[in-house]
Amino acid sequence: MSALMVQLNETVNFIKEKIGTSTRIGIVLGSGLGNLAEVIKVNESIPYADIPNFQTSTVKGHGGRLILGELGGVNVLVMSGRFHYYEGYSSEQVILPIRVMKLLGVETVLLSNAAGGVNPNFKVGDLMIINDHISFFTANPLIGKNIDELGTRFPDMSEPYSHAIIDKALAICKQNDIHIHQGVYTAVTGPTFETHAEYRLIKAIGSDVVGMSTVQETIAAVHCGMNVFAVSVVTDLGIRENNNVITHEEVLQAAKEAEPKLTLLFTELVKVI
Ligand code: HPA
Repeated sequence: MSALMVQLNETVNFIKEKIGTSTRIGIVLGSGLGNLAEVIKVNESIPYADIPNFQTSTVKGHGGRLILGELGGVNVLVMSGRFHYYEGYSSEQVILPIRVMKLLGVETVLLSNAAGGVNPNFKVGDLMIINDHISFFTANPLIGKNIDELGTRFPDMSEPYSHAIIDKALAICKQNDIHIHQGVYTAVTGPTFETHAEYRLIKAIGSDVVGMSTVQETIAAVHCGMNVFAVSVVTDLGIRENNNVITHEEVLQAAKEAEPKLTLLFTELVKVI
């Protein structure tokens, strides 16, 4: 068995002992979007610091707990706080929790993030369902020896984000009068926000939003055969007429304001997937 599988098994066994029950749905909460954890009926909550091989979230706006609970009456395993490449963690460390979820029996992951809008039709506070991504500016997390126990060497990426789940999410948004876009998320490493020229480049290559997370997790999830659904909250506008600066505080505030829409969407979605 590879060293990585040994490590994964150690983490999985530790969590299994603590939480006992298995769950089909995993959720990762993005920057400033931790409040979903408040509406969850928590059964178990484990600080990342206690979990072998987990890192700790070093970023403001990110919790640092793995929660097993019920959302809308459905069992979910929630990462309140994620690990980013810009924190200095390796790609392997960033995606470890996704692989752990898979080995715990999770079949579908719901990811959320804060992102900068480059589609000129987007406004701060809008939601966007990610229907495709561009990962060329970040390290592919599968670089290295393939872990055959998890998946194939050359994974197909023709549908990283499940169309079936997107359709269900669109129906929920329609029923609940939630205005939502669909589009392409381009991943960058951060931690700098982009320059004007970079935002223009990102728009020109076909992106609607840009952000510092999610795509490595999606690739890892697809590699090991999980379904992925992901939503961005547009927290700032990269393509803008005025020359305002972007701050992390502004991003967190916008995420907080948009959060109830995201909470409603995830709560309804877990009931139908
Ligand atoms: N760029 C990159 N990442 C981000 C942004 C942005 O404008 N906003 C929130 N995360």
